[in-house]
Amino acid sequence: MMNKVVLAVLAALCLGSVAVQAHPAHIEALHEGTHFEHFNTWLLKFKPSYMDDISEVAKRFKVFSDNLDHIRKVNAENRSYYLGLGPLTDLTQEEYRNQYLNPSLKTVLKSRKSTGVFTHANVTADSSVDWRQKGAVTPVKNQAQCGSCWAFSSTGSMEGINFIKTGKLVSLSEQQLVDCDRVDNGCGGGIMDQAFKYVMNNGGIDTEDDYSYTARDGTCQTSKAAKHVVTIDSYQDVPVNSKDDLMKAITAQPVSIAIEADHADFQNYAGGVFSDDCGTSLDHGVLAVGYDSGASEPYWIVKNSWGSAWGMDGYIKLAMNVGGSQGQCGILEHPVYPEKNGPNPPPSPPSPPSPPSPPSPPPSNKCSDSYSCPSGNTCCCQQEVFGKCMQWACCPLPQATCCKDHIHCCPHEYPVCHVDQGTCGKSNDIFATVPISKKEAAIFTGSRKVQTE
Ligand SMILES: *[C@@H]1O[C@H](CO)[C@@H](O)[C@H](O)[C@H]1NC(C)=O
Ligand SMILES: *[C@@H]1O[C@H](CO)[C@@H](O)[C@H](O)[C@H]1NC(C)=O
Repeated sequence: MMNKVVLAVLAALCLGSVAVQAHPAHIEALHEGTHFEHFNTWLLKFKPSYMDDISEVAKRFKVFSDNLDHIRKVNAENRSYYLGLGPLTDLTQEEYRNQYLNPSLKTVLKSRKSTGVFTHANVTADSSVDWRQKGAVTPVKNQAQCGSCWAFSSTGSMEGINFIKTGKLVSLSEQQLVDCDRVDNGCGGGIMDQAFKYVMNNGGIDTEDDYSYTARDGTCQTSKAAKHVVTIDSYQDVPVNSKDDLMKAITAQPVSIAIEADHADFQNYAGGVFSDDCGTSLDHGVLAVGYDSGASEPYWIVKNSWGSAWGMDGYIKLAMNVGGSQGQCGILEHPVYPEKNGPNPPPSPPSPPSPPSPPSPPPSNKCSDSYSCPSGNTCCCQQEVFGKCMQWACCPLPQATCCKDHIHCCPHEYPVCHVDQGTCGKSNDIFATVPISKKEAAIFTGSRKVQTE
């Protein structure tokens, strides 16, 4: 099997002109080795927390293996795209749909009114555009298990137009939209038009740094929502089912789009131009940041919000010339963009002491940019790769000692781990002991930065 692939690759290299979608080495490597070997590597990288739960590991191994079989089958067909192991490879298609997508989006979008004026009608579309290279796009974020794609799609296009109008790239708050936009439904779903309307009515939106993401529905933090760091003035639709108009709009600015993303190939997409039949039942809000209409296989460049370990560093290329009038995955069905006429307001003067705030989470310890633990806890590294901590856990004790097994921890006064005995000691004297504690997953607080190759 492997020899055949190697020979074929060599043949392709020698002939030079054979049109084969080259797969990166780590994708080719998926065809070798056992399912269990691949699962082990995957587990360490993406979900080390499973390892505490044997029955979950067994269940996930089964699902993972089914997905790996599918990945191998698709990759063997040399399509214009390829699949790989990603953060969602342990989910059945149904779990994937329920946890990451928003099937009601299509119905909600049908009920909305069109805005009427296409203000980019006279733009001359470039043959290729990539707003990332111009600095108009923030790093890929991670919505985690919260149906807030619509909020990420909205902040993405507002970050873009704000950069274009002010020259400053400011990461904006999805959590404010999740908590405060009562027309939309937080982690239960929403649409981008309404998010823009909320920001217009509110007089602006706060930054990611100040009002950061928790991946949970929460109470609107009104003092933060009152910080109008970035404003928009209106929003407009791109005429429906028009590739030329979407190109014009993207030439002018990053554009919020809706797509259907519930097929297994989307779930495990790893690279290339995605040309699979993916339907047009819109269930996911994302951001179009560019396109290349002159490539041998023309594509749209789409920013997703599932972290940078998904897809091509968090992005997917959607084929431009397939998918019929609605475009690939329905990309032409609902493009919408915010408009901004004026500058942002000056920073607001220090606000008067706010009334006692509603029970807010207690102050927390920061483990890293993305993880924190409740106060009184200690951050313990749960997974280390080359001396760098990739995943944190919380020990429910202050100033605790983290045991080397990466699972347990010991109180400050009993800093010696006797993992085998399940106790913590004052010294190596195993008689002066207290029971050992177990750690819990750290609280995920922001865009997760997972290393990718
Ligand atoms: C895919 O490409 C490989 C390598 O060039 C070749 O051996 C194989 O026959 C191709 N498979 C299909 C289905 O075209
Ligand atoms: C586009 O140009 C035409 C002709 O000059 C003009 O009538 C129209 O208002 C312009 N449309 C927009 C949206 O600027």
